[in-house]
Amino acid sequence: MSKQADKQRIEKLRDLIADYRYNYHVLDKSTMSEAAADSLKHELSQLEAKHPDLVTEDSPSQRVAGQPLAKFTSVPHSSRMLSLNDVFNEDEVRAWEKRILKLSGVDDFEYFVDLKMDGFACSLWYVDGVLERALTRGDGAVGEDITQNIRTLDAIPLRLRRSDGLEHFLQGRTEVRGEVLMYKDDFAALNKRREAAVEPLFKNPRTTAAGTMRQLDSKLVSERPMYFHGYDLIRDDPSDVATYEDAYKYMQSLGIKVNPAATTVADITTVLKYAEEWQDKRLELPFGTDGLVIKVNSRQEYARLGVVGKAPRGAAAIKYPAEEATTKVKDIIISIGRTGAATPVAVMEPVDVAGSTVQHASLHNQDEIERLDVRIGDTVIIHKAGDIIPKVTRVLSELRNGSEKPYDMVAELKKMEIEFEQPEGEVIWRAVGKSPQVIKRSIQHFASKQALDIEGLGEKNVELLVDEGLIEDFADLYTLTTAQLADLERFAEVSSENLVTAIAEKKSPPLARFINGLGIRHVGVQTAIDLAERYGNLEKLQAVASDQPEELYEVEGIGEVVARSIVEWFLDENNQKLLDKFKDAGVWPQQAEQVAGPLKGKTFAITGSLESMGRELAAEKIRSLGGTFQSSVGKGTNYLVHGDKLGDGKRAKAEKFGTELLDEQSFLKLINT
Ligand code: IVH
Repeated sequence: MSKQADKQRIEKLRDLIADYRYNYHVLDKSTMSEAAADSLKHELSQLEAKHPDLVTEDSPSQRVAGQPLAKFTSVPHSSRMLSLNDVFNEDEVRAWEKRILKLSGVDDFEYFVDLKMDGFACSLWYVDGVLERALTRGDGAVGEDITQNIRTLDAIPLRLRRSDGLEHFLQGRTEVRGEVLMYKDDFAALNKRREAAVEPLFKNPRTTAAGTMRQLDSKLVSERPMYFHGYDLIRDDPSDVATYEDAYKYMQSLGIKVNPAATTVADITTVLKYAEEWQDKRLELPFGTDGLVIKVNSRQEYARLGVVGKAPRGAAAIKYPAEEATTKVKDIIISIGRTGAATPVAVMEPVDVAGSTVQHASLHNQDEIERLDVRIGDTVIIHKAGDIIPKVTRVLSELRNGSEKPYDMVAELKKMEIEFEQPEGEVIWRAVGKSPQVIKRSIQHFASKQALDIEGLGEKNVELLVDEGLIEDFADLYTLTTAQLADLERFAEVSSENLVTAIAEKKSPPLARFINGLGIRHVGVQTAIDLAERYGNLEKLQAVASDQPEELYEVEGIGEVVARSIVEWFLDENNQKLLDKFKDAGVWPQQAEQVAGPLKGKTFAITGSLESMGRELAAEKIRSLGGTFQSSVGKGTNYLVHGDKLGDGKRAKAEKFGTELLDEQSFLKLINT
């Protein structure tokens, strides 16, 4: 880019970041996620580093933020409420430790770690055990008095609990610092109510908690469920609290909630292990987290290490990879799926989000393109959580320079060689008839890991086999010969034999995999398993789909749309021919042999999230022990495994079907015996 163009970009970025900051820090409104804003700041710093003469004093990169609003009374903090420096990976964690060890002249430290909660920082002053005052963090030196609001929170004791050996904490001043949190479930419920009342929706739990705590009307606060988790305990005599471990222990005894996950760790390697362990587990906590906080456990050592700028040397925030980032849309292409569905896909400049590089994101359909108003050349926000596929959540239209090109999917489809149609009442466009692309995708799907899992049959080989006219559908795979393959450039004698053998090995595939492999619309892995378990063999499924389609509704998780799709598939003459071809080639699925195991004959469903493992893993465990996993409770479900929360609806359903409830502990016991 020319310097002039860079200058323009710098100015636009500065305006946007300043705008974000003002909304975030002064108005408690979120105009974009913190991670997305960080991404913009990063781009700005890089451009400024490239042109140091363009750096100005008022650039957001040069600024320290945070003005308390004037409406509440401002009160100075007893000691500054500091921030934390961020570290992002093992090297940075180790470098941080090296620095503080050197400064202190010691060989090692013991650490205390906790989750970094995504809430609203608050300081509570107790005098002689009674809550006197609650302050926001403000600019760190001066906060705002929000005592009235805090008093409405059940989670905060109005008086500290008396506890043996801690009586002196109920004399004089005891300060607790921590985070006011809105839990994810409460947030979702709150937004649901707002949606029903046609009120604007809130952005996220953190900004909602912050916005709520800064309401002048405490009645409004009392109507919203919120929590408080402590992270610091301060006494005028520092020897009252020797370590952070003590601080947490005492807070708990005095009636302040602290995270049960917080713990003392012996060395930095264990801290890193802890960070890894919590990377995914934290997503199942009721509140949001974006990292860990690590501190030198001894408060004396911690204090001795001092403060640089706004952050103590003795602590750091270990941040997990961002779940949002900004990038530019280079192009929009059309991908054709196994059922012929045309999906527009954004091709973006590669960007790191939540630990992986993202370059493509589905835009779903023309309606979504219009809703987002995404154009080629736009800067967009990409969101990715855990293993979930990345999504374009927003276009930063503020950054447009006029060169962005709107995208008309329908016009693009018309330009293609294949004919597309949009079935009535649907948003999706589909290829008419069997185009080579659709055939290739359906064969790839059939051979994929989740379906028949045929080794050596990846995208390239499937393309070649179809282009060379050797196969027209996936049943043709079974008639391929080594001689046919050996004629192709990609195949030598050995690889031809390997592929033919790999295909032949899958002549009696498990029924569920086979059903999934057929590529019936709306029938994915779990529905295929449910169908296989219900009908036991393909003939039965075929008979039901053709003669008693209403019976399909009895399978858990199958509604009208899925049932119709299954019926249509089996009634289609081409598909009947396909199944005949399989039979002729001696290919027929087998009822998944029920593994003999302690759970044989028992059917399980899971609701809510489990602390010890994800749903998929739990389902796999159940199957590996001979049990059956269902997507939800129905007739014949023996056990409903549930996490901490069990909704009344689910409980009632379990009762109706005579299903036994199993909490996580009992479930673990069952699968471990
Ligand atoms: S300890 C010097 N522990 O993160 C401040 N802070 O970026 C030491 N936070 O101001 C704070 N969870 O509002 C600590 N477990 C935790 C935390 C935590 C969230 C917030 C806190 C702090 C900010 C620093």
